[in-house]
Amino acid sequence: MIEYENLAELNKSFFADYIAVFSKILEGGQYILGNNVSNFEAEFARYVGSERCVGVASGLDALVLSLKAHNFKAGSEVIVPANTYVATILSILQCGLKPVLVEPDISTYNIDPTKIEGKLTAKTTAIMIVHLYGKSCDMDPIMAIVQKHGLVLIEDCAQAHGAKYKDKQVGAFGDCGAFSFYPTKNLGAIGDAGAVVTNSSATAEVIKKLRNYGSSVKYYNDYIGYNSRLDEIQAGFLLVKIKRLDEINSHKRRLAEIYLRELKNDFIKPIVQDGYFDVYHIFNVRHLERDRLKEYLLKNGINTAIHYPVPPHHQKALIDILGDYKCPISE
Ligand SMILES: Cc1ncc(COP(=O)(O)O)c(C=O)c1O
Repeated sequence: MIEYENLAELNKSFFADYIAVFSKILEGGQYILGNNVSNFEAEFARYVGSERCVGVASGLDALVLSLKAHNFKAGSEVIVPANTYVATILSILQCGLKPVLVEPDISTYNIDPTKIEGKLTAKTTAIMIVHLYGKSCDMDPIMAIVQKHGLVLIEDCAQAHGAKYKDKQVGAFGDCGAFSFYPTKNLGAIGDAGAVVTNSSATAEVIKKLRNYGSSVKYYNDYIGYNSRLDEIQAGFLLVKIKRLDEINSHKRRLAEIYLRELKNDFIKPIVQDGYFDVYHIFNVRHLERDRLKEYLLKNGINTAIHYPVPPHHQKALIDILGDYKCPISE
């Protein structure tokens, strides 16, 4: 069986280094917010090309804390793609804000910039874009809208570590770039982990406090914060893996080249565009007989996954809030 993911296999070449890192942390006794967290933050900011990075507990928390740091008025509207993974939308709701869904461009699966301005109202405060499947959004028109309307831009980069648009990495465009290091991601930990990158020292300092009970000085609390610290052990593992992130992305790009070349025309394949460096977190195809194809592949020992079977606005949890939306492309 060719599995959809085999995380043990994926990490095998890191095992020896991980064990060494783990032993060192175990013996060192600094288990929370130690050198591994601060070294990883410095390394990841450098990698993305941002001034600052703050490690947090998950990708969802990276989104929530990015929103919280901006202190938007309750009920403010946040533009978000309708076809994202549900976590993006949950982050907006968890901050007491209103998600406003925008359809994707059918050829890229990323938010369609031509459909954003029609959804802006006096209450719109932010755009939360998602670089889905490892491909950057179309950043020039998005940046033009952000600047024209004075909006905050938050990038959900959970699926796009190292992806570029015109030689600039995703995460470095917005006020905040939120990353997940969930084990299946291109830069995956051995548990939950996440980070926010930003060019604003002020934003970084607020998020550093928010992740730690709203505090930077022990027992003094400036904000109603959370416990959402990046784990020291995960940071140690990530410091090992980030050295080979480019190699991981190159490998995915080589596999994508094979699929792009060999899959026949009945497959609708990911678009390849000048100026984009895609990292193929997921190599996605559309097919008129999707379910039969999936079954055929399974019978022949190849497991696949549907991303995603139910769009957020049709989820039971969200039907009362977003159920009126009609999003035929996402659906
Ligand atoms: C687009 C997107 N946003 C956010 C997240 C949330 O990340 P995490 O699982 O680390 O909380 C994910 C995770 O799968 C994701 O794919």
